[in-house]
Amino acid sequence: MKIRISALAIAILWTATSFAEPREPAATASPERKATEFAVPLGLPPMPPRFATVQPAKVELGRKLFFDRRLSFNNTLSCAMCHLEEDAFASTQSKKSIGMEGRTLRRNAPSVLNVVYQRSLFHDGRENRIDLQVWMPLLAEDEMANPSMGYVLDRIGELDDYDAQFNRVYPAEGISVHSVGDAIAAYEATLLSANSRFDRWHFGGEKGLLTKAEVAGFQIFTGKGGCSTCHRIEQESALFTDHRFHNTGIGYRAAMGSGRIHVIPLAPGVTTSMSDSQIDAFGESPRNDVGRFEVTLKESDRWAYKTPSLRNVSRTKPYMHDGSIATLEDVVDFYSSGAAARHATDGILTRLDLSVDEKAELVAFLRTLDGEQRSRP
Ligand code: HEC
Ligand code: HEC
Repeated sequence: MKIRISALAIAILWTATSFAEPREPAATASPERKATEFAVPLGLPPMPPRFATVQPAKVELGRKLFFDRRLSFNNTLSCAMCHLEEDAFASTQSKKSIGMEGRTLRRNAPSVLNVVYQRSLFHDGRENRIDLQVWMPLLAEDEMANPSMGYVLDRIGELDDYDAQFNRVYPAEGISVHSVGDAIAAYEATLLSANSRFDRWHFGGEKGLLTKAEVAGFQIFTGKGGCSTCHRIEQESALFTDHRFHNTGIGYRAAMGSGRIHVIPLAPGVTTSMSDSQIDAFGESPRNDVGRFEVTLKESDRWAYKTPSLRNVSRTKPYMHDGSIATLEDVVDFYSSGAAARHATDGILTRLDLSVDEKAELVAFLRTLDGEQRSRP
């Protein structure tokens, strides 16, 4: 079965790469360009065709770029400093990530484990390709702060250790906007995590692996808790996301915390929302966050954020796009008390009033989602 799928995947990949990477010649027999098959851990869907096979030399190059602080303007920040390997490739030290020269970013850094399966990227889904996403942190003023794409390419070109590596993996292309993104994406695509106790119990048929409390938590998750409506579990795999955006009240609550909210018309049909304190601080760069609305300008998307995967969730505190909830116990309290339902706009969330035992069971279940990390081909 695996063999048949991968033969098909290679065929698809062959076609896909001939569109995606027109300047690269078809894979040759040279060892650097050899592609190997990638088996996904239990609980994950098949790899997207484009990433079904890995080229070890490309992955190695991407890994080096991901960990290289010289890719930031003042040589201090690498991707890996906000997506820490030991923290399931998320940041757990502060609510919001700390960027260039200690500036606080607007949001909490999500884990990039299993990111290859995400249909849209960032909490607001503003990008949808991991090879292009790379350029946002590289250029963002409060992140890696490079002044331009050309600047980054020149900088990498000046570093002696990269030239040979790029020429080996991208002989026709060398260091380019495409190859930098493509290599980092190839590395990210190897960051898979599953085969958790939940996977072995649910998909692997290892009956008796979960405790009674964990099984009860699973029943709440998929039953009266309604969690799996958004954090989905499919027939043969689970990503714990519906790939959609919902207003769970977190963004609204954060905005309210700083005073009353004013919706201010800017032009006919165009509005923005600001709190009292933001209006007071006008001119001092208000750090407003209205979620998906920023991408669609649809009123129903105001304060809506992407449903995050819950894999490894016990290791990626604090929670929510702004890191405003510190523990899993507090997350479960938040949903149970109806705090999420009050300002949610799509009517899926309701007040749950879980008992003390039920809350503990739900948390116990969430802890079974810690997976094994497979980070190298
Ligand atoms: C200063 C901290 C910081 C640095 C450096 C950084 N990131 Fe991030 N990353 C974040 C934050 C915060 C978000 C969420 C931002 C948002 O949603 O607007 C994020 C989001 C992402 C996502 C989207 C994940 C998802 O599930 O939606 C990917 C992929 C990613 N980063 C990869 C990278 C790569 C590759 C680099 C290096 C080129 C990098 N990051 C550098 C903080 C950082
Ligand atoms: C209406 C869809 C929906 C339902 C139902 C739902 N969630 Fe969520 N969940 C979300 C969204 C959207 C976020 C992200 C919110 C944000 O970033 O502000 C989230 C965030 C979380 C997080 C934080 C993850 C992280 O990495 O920050 C946890 C944990 C969580 N949900 C657990 C649950 C549990 C347990 C239930 C059932 C009681 C549940 N969710 C029900 C949509 C939903």
